[in-house]
Amino acid sequence: MVTIKLSEKPLIDQSAQAYAVVCDDTYVAQKKFQALAERFYPSLEKIFTTRKFSGSAGSIITVTGTRDNEPVYLIFLGIGSSQSKPGQTKYDLLETIRRAMGQLIRAAEQYKITTIALQVPEASWAQTDDYTLAKELASTLQMTPYHFDQFITDEARKHHQEYHITFCAPALLHEKMKVGIEHGQRIGYAVNQARHWCDLPACAMTPTIVADYAQKIAAPHNLKVTVFDEKTVIEMGMGGLASVSQGSTQECRFVIMEYKTEHKNAPTLALVGKGVTFDSGGISIKPAARMDEMKDDMAGAAAVISSMEMIAHLKPRMNVIGITPLTENMPSGSATKPGDIVQFYNGKTAEIKNTDAEGRLILADALSYAVKHYKPDFMINLATLTGSCAYALGPFFCGLMSKHDDLANKVVHAGQRSGDRAWALPFHDDYKIAIKSSVADLCNIGNESYRAGSITAGFFLQHFVGETPWVHLDIAGTSFNVPDISYYRVGATGFGVRMIAELLMNWEQL
Ligand code: BES
Ligand code: MN
Ligand code: ZN
Repeated sequence: MVTIKLSEKPLIDQSAQAYAVVCDDTYVAQKKFQALAERFYPSLEKIFTTRKFSGSAGSIITVTGTRDNEPVYLIFLGIGSSQSKPGQTKYDLLETIRRAMGQLIRAAEQYKITTIALQVPEASWAQTDDYTLAKELASTLQMTPYHFDQFITDEARKHHQEYHITFCAPALLHEKMKVGIEHGQRIGYAVNQARHWCDLPACAMTPTIVADYAQKIAAPHNLKVTVFDEKTVIEMGMGGLASVSQGSTQECRFVIMEYKTEHKNAPTLALVGKGVTFDSGGISIKPAARMDEMKDDMAGAAAVISSMEMIAHLKPRMNVIGITPLTENMPSGSATKPGDIVQFYNGKTAEIKNTDAEGRLILADALSYAVKHYKPDFMINLATLTGSCAYALGPFFCGLMSKHDDLANKVVHAGQRSGDRAWALPFHDDYKIAIKSSVADLCNIGNESYRAGSITAGFFLQHFVGETPWVHLDIAGTSFNVPDISYYRVGATGFGVRMIAELLMNWEQL
């Protein structure tokens, strides 16, 4: 956990082990470091020259000074220029600041520093406001120390995860920043919780355990939770979820969480998350290499459930329904066989040509259920749905598919602003025919001549949303093992939580 407090006292008057300053490309040239140099490190300017530190984005320099016979660390975090470059937006500037916060915590890990005084950069540098800046600083600082170490027994291998950080900023800004910090802490905490659930191995994160977590987090809040067990799922006609689950010794679950705002006439948003706690591929079994990563095939569900708790704290002016179908996808004597035909909750049928295309089968029931019982004004699903999306877009943007430009634009903007970025794939009807079956309404894999596996998967889902304005996010590439971003580590990213927070809190402005 990271604690953050606000102080109006100047940076050098703080009593921390480390002093951190965010430096743009004017910092060194304009000698803005002089007060720090005089107090702790007179030859600072020389160090900047010899180590060629000019404040460029992503650069960092740490020097050690002395105070009362104790080391004092000065950490300078480069963020470069705020001048717009071709293709760069103001959201890239905010992301640069986030990554600088990631680097700050990494430096603290390295030097075993636990108390830090941070000079808060000016919000105007990133063309943002003080509330948003504080929120982004706080959420990133909360996210960075996260380390999945529950099963490591050697204490020496565990990372320190507790930090006390003081934000130094003019008193005038404190009121706005205080709220930003509170919100950012909540968001960062929810991201880490989603990461933890994904990082837990499938033996410790079965569908029943996930459903229990959903119930546990809802209890202290005003969230309603409904959990259907496997027997109920079958009785209700959720043939997609039942067919994926039937090969596993673990029972499936179907979880519905509901947040109601006190505001009258607020719209309702349904969030649907794919929750495959382990995807072996089933009878169409996956190759052994990297199959372990398929414990993360519940990243959509983890993001939705963790977001529901965050939403209970942030209290957006919207009603939110969180729906997660939860199952394992395993091969066995009772597993679904290629060629089998299933019927979904809305009555449509599909031929299962490949049991590894299981995500769309469980989402089909979940989307149909959401539409029928909640008639949401908007619906968004998050799913680690296709390897082809991970190939197409890599780890930095998830794939977005939608026919509803207003909603899609809101989601893209929320993604840009929050750091959980989305990129629209062509969602054109030309691809639609690829999932036709000769023996059922639909086929669960696209005809090979259409290739575009992410888009054809999106069109499969479209059969279950009716007229509801809907966005499908394929988060297969962004949910785990994202390289180069300092505030992540190997493992799950909690992708989607920050985007959901941004979307709900700024719905009208996006
Ligand atoms: N969970 C996988 C998709 C995936 C792959 C997520 C890699 C993250 C990383 C999904 O269930 C799957 O197996 N999809 C198949 C679909 C194919 C059989 C049409 C795929 O992408 O290969
Ligand atoms: Mn699969
Ligand atoms: Zn899957």
